[in-house]
Amino acid sequence: MRVAILTSGGDCPGINATIRGVCKTAINHYGMEVLGIHSGFQGLLTCDAELLTDKSLSGLLNLGGTILGTSREKPFKKGGIMPDVDKPALIEENIRKLGIDCLVCIGGNGTQKTAAKLSARGVNVVSVPKTIDNDIWGTDFSFGFDSAVNIATDAIDRLHSTASAHKRVMVIEVMGHKAGWIALYSGMAGGGDVILIPEIPYHINNIADTILNRLKRGKPYSIVVVAEGISTGDNKRAAVHIAQEIEFATGIETRETVLGYIQRGGSPTPFDRNLSTRMGGHATELIVNGSYGRMVALSGDKIGSIPLQEVAGKLKLVTEAHDLVVQGRRMGICFG
Ligand code: F6P
Repeated sequence: MRVAILTSGGDCPGINATIRGVCKTAINHYGMEVLGIHSGFQGLLTCDAELLTDKSLSGLLNLGGTILGTSREKPFKKGGIMPDVDKPALIEENIRKLGIDCLVCIGGNGTQKTAAKLSARGVNVVSVPKTIDNDIWGTDFSFGFDSAVNIATDAIDRLHSTASAHKRVMVIEVMGHKAGWIALYSGMAGGGDVILIPEIPYHINNIADTILNRLKRGKPYSIVVVAEGISTGDNKRAAVHIAQEIEFATGIETRETVLGYIQRGGSPTPFDRNLSTRMGGHATELIVNGSYGRMVALSGDKIGSIPLQEVAGKLKLVTEAHDLVVQGRRMGICFG
């Protein structure tokens, strides 16, 4: 049996550990052949592939990025490379040409959508959820999230001392796309005083009251964690907008930090390495059992899978009933 594997969308820690989990199980345990497709769906359009061997899988567990490369090519959407070509048909033709029996897609929401569409056309596909944003429907966690939260929490920890020394308000913007998972988890773990996420509307007066109340209680500095996806009403970055509003409303010197791509780089945490290994292994099990059209998913501590058609087009967002929000509010943290 010949399996192909690709990584698509933004990279994140744990992709290589997942490639390793899929390929070592497929090659060493099941005697399959594995073809690595370069640069996501772009490589399926151009037949850019290499045969992976046990040797090419060494040193991957803690390696950031993706050895296969990635792209944001979406073959069912207009744009990208080969704009005048029927890309889904070309992909099907290339899958036949390369002798691929099943395609493993490692990616975020866009990738799950593409995988679902290919599956609906009859291509044998299984997928693994990958994103620091943790916003993929149907899985409790995606790998990459824990690593990003660790990096963001470390950054917030470091802001406390400089904020305290200067008696400033420090605003830190973290990633997450349209979801507030990274802001919520790192904000709570890092002791943020205000946490703003796209799912909960905010009013600048509530934020200012929280900061001024802290000042009255002898706490002259505050940490504000904002998700990049909050609405600002202007074109400014979330952190810049919020920092300016806070300084204007409180009169306290305020600085902003945008953490950016550091959250996506470097090696995965032990939690993400093990999640990647388990998810990659399970993807291979799905192939062996002929359970195509499914995405590997974590539910509680169990790895299982759900139909791609159920995942595609949905977003998993934070709700106000999440226990970190409920508990945070009870402890006086302002969510807007
Ligand atoms: O989805 C992962 C993510 O890092 C988001 O948090 C962020 O909004 C986006 O990707 C950045 O995308 P790009 O790599 O295209 O700049």
